[in-house]
Amino acid sequence: MEHPRIIRRTKRTTRLTRLAAPTVSAVLSVAVLATGCTGSTVQGRPGASGVRDPYFPRAGNGGYQVEHYDLNLAYDPADGRLHGTAVITARAEQGLSSFNLDFSGLKVEGVEVQGAGARHNRSGTELTVRPAKDLKKGEVFRTEIDYSGRPKPVVDPDGSEEGWIATADGAVGVGEPVGSMGWFPGNHHPSDKATYDIKLTVPKGYEAVSNGALRSRTDVADGRTEFAWHSAEPMASYLATAAIGKFDVTTGRTPSGIPLYNAVTPAESAKSAPALERLPEIVEWGSAKFGPYPFDTVGTIVLPGGTLGYALETQTKPVYPGAPDENLILHELAHQWFGNSVSPKSWKDMWLNEGFATYAEWLWAEEHDGPTAQRRFEAIVDGDATVDQAADSEWDAFPPAAPPGPEHISGDPVYVRGAMVLHRIRQEVGDEKFFALLRGWATDHRHGNASTADFTAYAQRHTGHDLKKVWDVWLYGKDRPKAP
Ligand code: TRP
Ligand code: ZN
Repeated sequence: MEHPRIIRRTKRTTRLTRLAAPTVSAVLSVAVLATGCTGSTVQGRPGASGVRDPYFPRAGNGGYQVEHYDLNLAYDPADGRLHGTAVITARAEQGLSSFNLDFSGLKVEGVEVQGAGARHNRSGTELTVRPAKDLKKGEVFRTEIDYSGRPKPVVDPDGSEEGWIATADGAVGVGEPVGSMGWFPGNHHPSDKATYDIKLTVPKGYEAVSNGALRSRTDVADGRTEFAWHSAEPMASYLATAAIGKFDVTTGRTPSGIPLYNAVTPAESAKSAPALERLPEIVEWGSAKFGPYPFDTVGTIVLPGGTLGYALETQTKPVYPGAPDENLILHELAHQWFGNSVSPKSWKDMWLNEGFATYAEWLWAEEHDGPTAQRRFEAIVDGDATVDQAADSEWDAFPPAAPPGPEHISGDPVYVRGAMVLHRIRQEVGDEKFFALLRGWATDHRHGNASTADFTAYAQRHTGHDLKKVWDVWLYGKDRPKAP
């Protein structure tokens, strides 16, 4: 049978040739405010201003974990102004005299902690909050931040844009890897997952779409409509989204009963339809392969064409910059298991997202008129781009578990060679153990975080095979691997 040329999209915008030594910056950050500690016993100390991510040292904050974000965002596409109130419920993991939030641009109008005004200052993307009274270890506390302004996109190390981005008829908030700080203050690192309520107030006539379930849609004062969205399962903040525009909305259910909400820009609707029709089947397929779909809703946001340079697996409702095809929907839905439910412990673990989502494409293809994963694997190694364009990519430029810098976390090796690592495991252990491994991994780490080391240990334990050679050559090896 003739196979169509398979086009895989990666996000990357930078090109690179072979790279020598890694240049990961190991900057460790310290809190911005002095402690104010007088030496008495129950005083807290400042929470750290980063969680020592190897690629984004200032991302996230130490000393607390967020339990819930309650975001109230009002946006008017006519003037591009955002007004936000973020109520963040968190648990102190140490006594805290101050703590940080990640926040970029916009004006902070006021901060309260436990209902009392709190001092705050800003330095770069760190917002340091000093509560009137120190917080005790274990204390659950509520911080309210009021802010407003015209949000600017956050530019990533690879040159792409995240954050709050104006579209032809509205705006969208996206966050991977650190863009969410451009539209709400938070503990913006995937290691701190939380539940969310996201309320969006927009001029009447606009739709406003976010993660999870639509709890209410209410006409409020000044000719505006308020949409209240609820995410019941934990979410990493880079997976939060808010899309405002003139969408056609269709709702339904998948065969197993998961509520479905598709918001599609009318101009992209006809082109999106064939792929969107298959979404329910894709969710069922993923559930059969990887274990039950991890969330209580599913859907799609199709933005006006060209809004973003990439699609994103935003939780329960991936966003697409124009009409997606079936393969892209498959990729973003596969992330709901790999990335969204099982989230990376650090940005170094990105291949656990992209390698798995890419391998899901291979699996779907081999069951639906595409080449087998084995054929693709061989074609990539042999440089035969007629089977998979990835053969022409820079899949061998660096080891997937060690991108040479933050601008490379979405590079070809993370996607392509990441998928090849999984295929190498399959070659070693056989189909039965391999599929049990994929499912076990998604099940045992459901709604959690995991690292590359967690995966390699898990894979060996689960399959009973010594996979050291696969890790050494395919996952960590600097040289271009040869077919086994
Ligand atoms: N995760 C997206 C996808 O493949 C691509 C992407 C967008 C990305 N922004 C990123 C990947 C930042 C890594 C880092 O579906
Ligand atoms: Zn992806």
